[in-house]
Amino acid sequence: MLQDKDRIFTNIYGFHDWGLEGARARGQWDGTKAIIEKGRDWIINEMKTSGLRGRGGAGFPTGLKWSFMPKESDGRPHYLVVNADESEPGTCKDREILRHDPHHLVEGCLLASFAMGAHAAYIYVRGEFIRERQHLQAAIDQAYEAGLIGKNACGSGWDFDLYVHHGAGAYICGEETALLESLEGKKGQPRLKPPFPANVGLYGCPTTVNNVESIAVAPTILRRGGAWFAGLGKPNNTGSKLFCVSGHVNKPGTFEEEMGIPFREMIDKHCGGVRGGWDNLLAVIPGGSSVPMVTAENIIDCPMDFDSLRNLGSGLGTAAVIVMDKSTDVIKAIARLAHFYKHESCGQCTPCREGTGWMWRVMERLVTGEAEKREIDMLFQVTKQVEGHTICALGDAAAWPIQGLIKNFRHVIEERIDQHHGGASRVAAE
Ligand code: NAI
Ligand code: SF4
Repeated sequence: MLQDKDRIFTNIYGFHDWGLEGARARGQWDGTKAIIEKGRDWIINEMKTSGLRGRGGAGFPTGLKWSFMPKESDGRPHYLVVNADESEPGTCKDREILRHDPHHLVEGCLLASFAMGAHAAYIYVRGEFIRERQHLQAAIDQAYEAGLIGKNACGSGWDFDLYVHHGAGAYICGEETALLESLEGKKGQPRLKPPFPANVGLYGCPTTVNNVESIAVAPTILRRGGAWFAGLGKPNNTGSKLFCVSGHVNKPGTFEEEMGIPFREMIDKHCGGVRGGWDNLLAVIPGGSSVPMVTAENIIDCPMDFDSLRNLGSGLGTAAVIVMDKSTDVIKAIARLAHFYKHESCGQCTPCREGTGWMWRVMERLVTGEAEKREIDMLFQVTKQVEGHTICALGDAAAWPIQGLIKNFRHVIEERIDQHHGGASRVAAE
């Protein structure tokens, strides 16, 4: 369980001044120049030591990702791009950083960019985040005015510019290569990887794309040391993390907690338990809509970290925990997600463009029960045809929730079909 002394985000609820003065009072921008003076290798090594895994959902080690950037310049500029296009259903953590503690991110952008040889960084903010972008821009302006960024940032000799780009509301622009396309002024459609952005990224130049939270925690890690962060959580699942809990708990919300906290302990401590008591819990989607749901009995004692949830057949993803009690129509819930993915598919590859629509239409038939039972296996097979056969992870994300539903709640689907057909034949007989 996270101790107050180890908390990174001390203004996550906006009780204090989010501006520069407040940020400084909370310890931000303290010794930034001294960190830069320790050099690029030191920064990247500390990030590796911290064990920080990317907070955007995929959990790729951040220090390792930074180390992929070319050490020597071949004449092309290097870029840092921050993915603030937070759109994963259930996820509302980056927006709290942007709203209430944006200087964590601004300082993190300077340090990360310096470590990767970038003189410029772009923050791509979700289209719907108007207030968040305003606070972020104001924080950037304050940092420029105070000489913390810009020419000779913090008196370090490093020139650094930071730009905010406002998205237009497309979920797919949160996929890193679609984001880069959008930033370049093109249609937001994912690119094939490899090449990864570290080799060919923004405008064809070496680029690292990181999530807001990953960059925002970097200054504190570098001030306190990678070993401090690695001492929290569990091996390979280190540190603290922002969790966002929604759905059928007594007090939904976003909070910082140690990685690996057991599910039940986390919900009791921060959310006042499950609505109607623990017996009333039916299922949980533990990591944003792109991971499979798990049953109550499977998750109740599960540590909330990347590896433990993967072992359960699901994932930590963005740590957006969607809790469903027994009043939930799980088939309808997943059908709604299927519609979301169909709507957000960029249409570039056939299995995703056609498959998402196909899966959604069958899901709608399962909701009413008018489908035939054989369609359940057929639907499962279609998810397997989509999974792993597309350019980007949206195809997998559309397939996995449906697979989770069929694996865990097949009996509910079958009962619905029986009910519908039984009901229909009774009506016919009358
Ligand atoms: P990914 O696993 O393909 O990549 C993760 C990161 O590691 C990327 O930055 C990629 O460039 C880098 N990487 C991976 N292998 C590499 C290699 N061999 N060399 C160099 N770099 C490498 O995952 P992806 O598609 O970036 O993210 C998928 C996740 O995003 C999902 O699991 C989901 O949880 C999450 N997501 C988050 C959203 C949000 O709003 N935060 C929205 C939608 C999805
Ligand atoms: Fe576009 Fe879907 Fe293909 Fe991703 S998987 S590139 S969203 S069509």
